[in-house]
Amino acid sequence: MRARRFDPGRRDFARLFAVGGSAALFHAGGGWASAAPLRTTPASPDERFWEDVRAQYVMPPGYICLNAANLCPSPSRVLDAYFEGTRSVDRDPSSQNRQKTHDGREATRRAIAAFLRVTPEEIVITRNTSESNNAVSSGLDLKSGDEVLLFGDNHPSNLAAWRQKAERFGFTVKLVDQVNPHPGHDYYVDAFRKQLSPATRVVAFTHVTSTVGDLLPAKQLCALARERGAISLVDGAQSFGALDVDLSDMQPDFFSGSAHKWPCGPKENGILYVNARVQSRIRPTIVSLYPGEVGISKTMEAFGQRDEPAIIGFGEALAFQTKVGRAAIERRSRELTRALVEGLRRIDGVKVWTHDDPTRSAAIVSFQPASLDVRKLHQALYERDRIVCATRGGADRPGLRFAPHFYNLQADVDRAVDAIERYVRTGVCWNPTIYQVRLELKPSPERPIPSPGLIAVRRAPGAATVAGIDRSPDPKASCRRYPRARREQSDRSRGLTAARIHRRLALPASGHLAVR
Ligand SMILES: Cc1ncc(COP(=O)(O)O)c(C=O)c1O
Repeated sequence: MRARRFDPGRRDFARLFAVGGSAALFHAGGGWASAAPLRTTPASPDERFWEDVRAQYVMPPGYICLNAANLCPSPSRVLDAYFEGTRSVDRDPSSQNRQKTHDGREATRRAIAAFLRVTPEEIVITRNTSESNNAVSSGLDLKSGDEVLLFGDNHPSNLAAWRQKAERFGFTVKLVDQVNPHPGHDYYVDAFRKQLSPATRVVAFTHVTSTVGDLLPAKQLCALARERGAISLVDGAQSFGALDVDLSDMQPDFFSGSAHKWPCGPKENGILYVNARVQSRIRPTIVSLYPGEVGISKTMEAFGQRDEPAIIGFGEALAFQTKVGRAAIERRSRELTRALVEGLRRIDGVKVWTHDDPTRSAAIVSFQPASLDVRKLHQALYERDRIVCATRGGADRPGLRFAPHFYNLQADVDRAVDAIERYVRTGVCWNPTIYQVRLELKPSPERPIPSPGLIAVRRAPGAATVAGIDRSPDPKASCRRYPRARREQSDRSRGLTAARIHRRLALPASGHLAVR
């Protein structure tokens, strides 16, 4: 089916809330600074441009989020859209007013369809990828004698879920094992082909794996499934919003994704694409009121009341990515990933699990940081270096996972590589110093703070910022929680200024505390 043209630009959402004089209800005030409009993406964006993109986010300066594969922050324009819609509903919860948010949900559906180059009639707005994957495994009619062929490195929502339903409905699950390092596209096409049989009804795999970021040949695998009369399900949790995914080219039967990962949308929003050719093959597993208005959403999206302002925020997130440019975003996150891989490979003892070849990987890099304790390293990176990433325990390709996105800077990559190099050289010696600080707190309506008194402030030795605050009014109790820590009295000369503590406590304005 041909994709209908829709421009998911800001105008659509802005227009929505200008209807019927409602614009007056919507003004910023969510407690974060709205970002200045982003300039048009240059043909060859330089670092200055990406700094402007970074400034669209409310993450504090110096905070490095390399965890896009898990959860992404939303830019402030998404927060604004979500907040404004929520405030409107809470000011006027009438069904008349909420017609605007129903319209917004449909505008988001059109935005998703345009983003993926398919039709709105094929889009279901779900809560997340997990729900979308389960809607497929629960909604198809499968029975004893049927086979479902899965990739072995699928997320539990596309692996454990199938196994559980196989027990219930009597069909059989077969696996194509993951191989490390990624053996190439031909290997996987061949491996799936060998496992397909006349009984195979479904082929389900992950476009980009969350473990080490292996990229699978989605288009070829979908074509193979189609040739053999099987239905394909592509888990796009790690490609939707990261790669310039074109479903009209990939041609899956189902494609799932989450708004709160790479698209940087509000939390708990997701998509399920249902190709028009299989819509008669799936049944809804949730049947309630308030369905979507077009196509498959009329039957598959009757989930009862929704958080429609969040769905509107999702549309805003796609508009933002469209404005920056999908291809530019993919190039940028791949570039940062390549720089990470190169930097990590130079460190003695580090083993990188992710393949260098861009046809076999995307914007995720997993690595084993020599013999370091991964859990401690993960914590030290967060507390000392303000670097956020994910861990992978167990025996199967253990280590850390970095997943940079278009809000990251080259400087973030340098700091992350330097930090890993330093810890590999020195070990992770996590021995925070406890500073005891007397705080004088003025009450604040926005953030009540425990009564004035002593609190303990943890700080990593040598770190420039306060690592954590223990709000216990009893410093002895705080110190007991860190028994190996050295105890010292803080003073300003150690750089533990009121301003720093202030930032850390996220007090609404300065002047609420003094350090003695
Ligand atoms: C490949 C893959 N599928 C599904 C999911 C589940 O996503 P969600 O928690 O948003 O449902 C994840 C989450 O990391 C994932 O990586």
